Amino acid sequence: MPEITFIEADGTARKVAATPGESLMVAATRAGVAGIIGECGGSCMCATCHCYLEAGTLPPPEELEAETLEFNAENPRPESRLTCQVVAIDGMAGIVLRVAGR
Ligand code: FES
Repeated sequence: MPEITFIEADGTARKVAATPGESLMVAATRAGVAGIIGECGGSCMCATCHCYLEAGTLPPPEELEAETLEFNAENPRPESRLTCQVVAIDGMAGIVLRVAGR
């Protein structure tokens, strides 16, 4: 089962187990990671699942994710990701995501 590390705003590192096929936002909200809200339910609209990729490699954002980051996220950076658009897969390892502040 893929394990993702989320770093909350106060610096707390939380290791979260994700089920393959679910989004990292779903895994994070289930685990109660502070700052990941998922207000739009994962439809790539609200940017309340915004994180910065600090370690590991992910496929690049699709166009809709990139647009939502550009127009709806606060303080977007090149390493920004919307975790509702990142699907957990077997073999995913070493992913560290810092929760973006609001
Ligand atoms: S949960 Fe709304 S954009 Fe990710």
